[in-house]
Amino acid sequence: MKEGCGVVDWRGSKLGVAKKIGGSGGRGSHHRSKLKVTPEAILLVVFIVWLLVCVRFYLIGELQLPQINYGNGSEKGGGSSAESNSDGNNNNDNYFPEHYMTFSTACSSSQNWQSFMFFYYAHKVSQPGYVIRIASGCSQKEQDELVEFHKTTISKLSSNFSVHFTPDFAKVSGDDYKYYNKPFGLRHWMEHGLKFDTNKDKYEDAIVVVLDPDMILLRPLTYDLTDSNVMIHASEQGPPKVRRVTHGQPWASLYGFGDGPFRSVDLKHVFANHTDSPALLVPKDEQVNNYAGGPPYMATGRDMFAIVNIWCELVPSVHHVYKHLLGEMYGWSLAAAHLGLPHTLAESFMISDTAMSYGEGWPLIDQLMDDELCEISTLREKEDKLPYVIHYCQSYWIGKWFIGKYRLDSDFLSSCEKPLLLEPPKDIHQWKYDYYIRPGGVPYGTKEKLDSRTAKREQFMICQIIARLNDAATWYKDQTCEKGMANNDKSWIFHHSLDPENNEGGEKKPAEW
Ligand SMILES: *[C@@H]1O[C@H](CO)[C@@H](O)[C@H](O)[C@H]1NC(C)=O
Ligand SMILES: *[C@@H]1O[C@H](CO)[C@@H](O)[C@H](O)[C@H]1NC(C)=O
Ligand SMILES: *[C@@H]1O[C@H](CO)[C@@H](O)[C@H](O)[C@H]1NC(C)=O
Repeated sequence: MKEGCGVVDWRGSKLGVAKKIGGSGGRGSHHRSKLKVTPEAILLVVFIVWLLVCVRFYLIGELQLPQINYGNGSEKGGGSSAESNSDGNNNNDNYFPEHYMTFSTACSSSQNWQSFMFFYYAHKVSQPGYVIRIASGCSQKEQDELVEFHKTTISKLSSNFSVHFTPDFAKVSGDDYKYYNKPFGLRHWMEHGLKFDTNKDKYEDAIVVVLDPDMILLRPLTYDLTDSNVMIHASEQGPPKVRRVTHGQPWASLYGFGDGPFRSVDLKHVFANHTDSPALLVPKDEQVNNYAGGPPYMATGRDMFAIVNIWCELVPSVHHVYKHLLGEMYGWSLAAAHLGLPHTLAESFMISDTAMSYGEGWPLIDQLMDDELCEISTLREKEDKLPYVIHYCQSYWIGKWFIGKYRLDSDFLSSCEKPLLLEPPKDIHQWKYDYYIRPGGVPYGTKEKLDSRTAKREQFMICQIIARLNDAATWYKDQTCEKGMANNDKSWIFHHSLDPENNEGGEKKPAEW
């Protein structure tokens, strides 16, 4: 939920700014912005919000503006439109809309291995429906290779996994902003992949899900969260009447930017052509509690198509006046607000930053038994305790154990010679660390403190991500390496030694890519 993280993938390793703001521990600079939120601070914020809400009600009294629903599909708003989702089919217990899960990438080798990981775990958890990588700006050679890779390898995971190619949209608006590829890539896929306009009947009631490539599915993510452990963010609207994605009720993961899209962006400029936009009238509570969302986004096909079109229209002007990392996410929020589509925000779709005291799915991890932390299982009853995705956009560390996407060799999966990662012991008694030593720390070998709650979370991330990378790499090598040529030794570590007292030789140099 840390700013800059939900969108970090497009920022790639080349954009230093992502590391500074997101603290995502890019190579060489592993400083993590520890946003310490003390209980007192939370109480203060809660009090201030309460005060503001009271004052607002006092001032506005009975004259509160009615909710304006702009555009179609949201007339009934909220959960009451659930029944319209399937026009009666919903009463049928077997009704299950088609699911399309997408993620947006460039064509670099780092995005290739992340995409493979994505597909691999979509396969492992039996994600229903279709999974689509939207790849923007590939050269002809890269495109040919990717098509071949899907034909020979990805298709073995599922015939429903595919790649959709789009032009590079970074320069659509006179500036160079590669994250334009997210909205414009998605729209390109809906227009040219689904051919949404001419197949409305087929796709309006389908479910479209938007994730980031550096996400690992821990369990299937579907429109129906009725029996889910998902933690729903409170808002004045109250909890959704039906815990499903329906027309007029998109879902997203709560992100920590609050009313940023409405506060930090010059709305007069963005809505210059829509001076009557409902986005300009969104009450503060809704700004913070229904629009501060990011991937995973989920909406019906109808809502998604409406959002993506406005998103593409607004995002250039958002970027023109707001040059920071979250521009394209802010664009989403404003587009949804323009359409009168407040989101149900989930606090536990995702885990990413172990230091978050609030807003990610960590309470679920905090509740796990010690012997469950290192277990990777796709058994239903085990999955049901977990968040839906690991968003591995941070660096993770405990003792001298470490994993971080920027330090992993980009050919980690595809190289037959390179070893797998050394896996940490699954036994909790080995995990008495209350510190970590970061690769690249200055001075090298410094023990940095971890409290016990954070240590448990780091342990979960280290165990889960390393084992899952190895699992995926083993399958990948099995498919692609010559018989007997795959190096499946689990031996790679990021330090020269795991002994915290032995720091001779300094640190291992991070991979270059
Ligand atoms: C909303 O949808 C209905 C039926 O599909 C249509 O008749 C109407 O014109 C639409 N309204 C808007 C504002 O698009
Ligand atoms: C592909 O998706 C369709 C529609 O959801 C489903 O019926 C089919 O079983 C899926 N195929 C595979 C191989 O998963
Ligand atoms: C408003 O519309 C005009 C004409 O279509 C266009 O040239 C201009 O860029 C739009 N302004 C914004 C802020 O989108």
